[in-house]
Amino acid sequence: MLSQKMIDEMNLQIKLELYSAYLYLSMSAHFEAANLGGFAIWMKAQASEEQAHAMKFYEHLQDRGGKVVLQAIEQPPVDFGKPLEVFKEVLKHEESVTARIHHMYGVAVKENDYASQAFLTWFVNEQVEEEKHATQIVEWLKMAGDSTNALFMLDSVLRKRGG
Ligand code: FEO
Repeated sequence: MLSQKMIDEMNLQIKLELYSAYLYLSMSAHFEAANLGGFAIWMKAQASEEQAHAMKFYEHLQDRGGKVVLQAIEQPPVDFGKPLEVFKEVLKHEESVTARIHHMYGVAVKENDYASQAFLTWFVNEQVEEEKHATQIVEWLKMAGDSTNALFMLDSVLRKRGG
C-alpha cells in the first residue's frame, strides 16, 4: 500500500512530467518557426517520451490502489533563444527532474516502500540517459559555434530521432 505522502509525490510527478512534455513541445514549435525541422522533430519525440513518463506514474498509482488526482499544468515559456541556449535550458530542466526523482527515491527508502524503489530505479537510470543526451547536444552546439553549416548538419543528425 502506498503512503499518502508517496501518493502526493507521484501525483505531483504526473503534473511535472506533463509540464516537461509541454515545455519540449513549446521548444519544438520554436524550432519549427526557426526553420530547424530536425531540432523540432527531436523536441517532439522528447515531448512524447515525457507523456509516457507521466503515464508510468499514473499506472503505478493505479496498480497500487493510489488515487490519481490530476493537477493544473503551468504554461511553458513561448520565447526561446538560440539552439545552444535552448539546450542549456533542457539540461538545466533535466537536472531538476533528476533531483525530483532522487527526492522521491529517498522518500521510498525512508518508508521502506520497496515496490516504489524498484519502480523509481527505472527513472534513476532514465535520468542518467536524459542528462547524457542533453549534455552531448550542448557540447555539439558549442563546437558548431556560429557555423551555419555545422548547425544544418546537427539538424540532420537530430532529425533521425523522428525516424
Ligand atoms: Fe521525464 Fe526528461 O524526464
